Amino acid sequence: MIETGEFDFENRIVAPQVIKDDDGDLDYSLRPKTLSEYIGQDKVKENMRIYIEAAKKRGEALDHVLLYGPPGLGKTTLSNIIAHEMGVNIRVTSGPAIEKTGDLAALLTSLQAGDVLFIDEIHRLSRAIEEILYPALEDFAIDFVIGNGPAARSIRIDLQRFTLIGATTRSGQLSAPLRDRFGIIQRLELYSPEDLTEIITRSAAILGVAIDREAAVEMASRSRGTPRIANRFLKRVRDYADVMSDGRITKDIAKIALDRMEVDPLGLDSLDKRMLSMIINGYGGGPVGLETLASAIGEEAVTLEDVCEPFLMQLGFLARTPRGRCATDLAYRHLGIKKPSDGNGAQTTLFDK
Ligand code: ADE
Repeated sequence: MIETGEFDFENRIVAPQVIKDDDGDLDYSLRPKTLSEYIGQDKVKENMRIYIEAAKKRGEALDHVLLYGPPGLGKTTLSNIIAHEMGVNIRVTSGPAIEKTGDLAALLTSLQAGDVLFIDEIHRLSRAIEEILYPALEDFAIDFVIGNGPAARSIRIDLQRFTLIGATTRSGQLSAPLRDRFGIIQRLELYSPEDLTEIITRSAAILGVAIDREAAVEMASRSRGTPRIANRFLKRVRDYADVMSDGRITKDIAKIALDRMEVDPLGLDSLDKRMLSMIINGYGGGPVGLETLASAIGEEAVTLEDVCEPFLMQLGFLARTPRGRCATDLAYRHLGIKKPSDGNGAQTTLFDK
């Protein structure tokens, strides 16, 4: 229930539709605007295409959508595309930005029929805010309490039928009642190197940068399955190409630039390596609990869990067991560390000593 006294109609929680990209400039041009421009995530795309078409055919708002998966995979981009394909407006905010129940009420009452409300990091909504959302999502109404004590009265305000798109890196942290209210739940996967090569090539064409295919492949293979990282690399490698040669991105330039950025050939950065090295050198290869590991390397557990682990597990470098995290043989080999148990003289590192 909303306390009327909390009402605060300032617009501060609603980020402008054009939000800054990763480099802080107002360059939205790299983001695809339609489903057909969007590369990869084929299953999600095909599902969404059907749901959108069906909703449009029936003249209804799209059902509420939950998008989850590691950061940088395009949850915000996809939400903008969904709104675009539905032909409706989108309001963008995030879980931590909605502090008061009145903030959410102001947002909800401003939506027109069919509009999309996008809440990033939806797992960070407070319990009180979630309580307001339930009737909003189910009955398209919000309940207010006016006055207090025995004189308190409840009034219900009807909302337009809208679509909530929630995005989260961790669907497991969403409360069950909230998760149950999403009719469409889609998981975004890390991208394949082929998809990332295509994304880099597309972005280079938009930016007017000449790039060799093998350079795009090299950058894609180091982008840890993440378009946001691929596009960031493209901009930085372009800087090297502009300064060190004629502006064309060749494989050599890409390699030099990425090596200088301390991104290794598989895309591991210094944090991934610190994490694996600590498991191996500090805890005998594991198992070690996530919190223990995080404090040992001075990082937040959520960063390790959301950013490093999906990628390291995809590479087969990390195993999550009930007793904690373990480094795999592949991780030892990649880091060139000999496993103590390998006493049979077999080669355990990538390179012979
Ligand atoms: N830029 C970032 N993500 C993209 C995607 N999935 N498709 C095309 N361009 C992108």
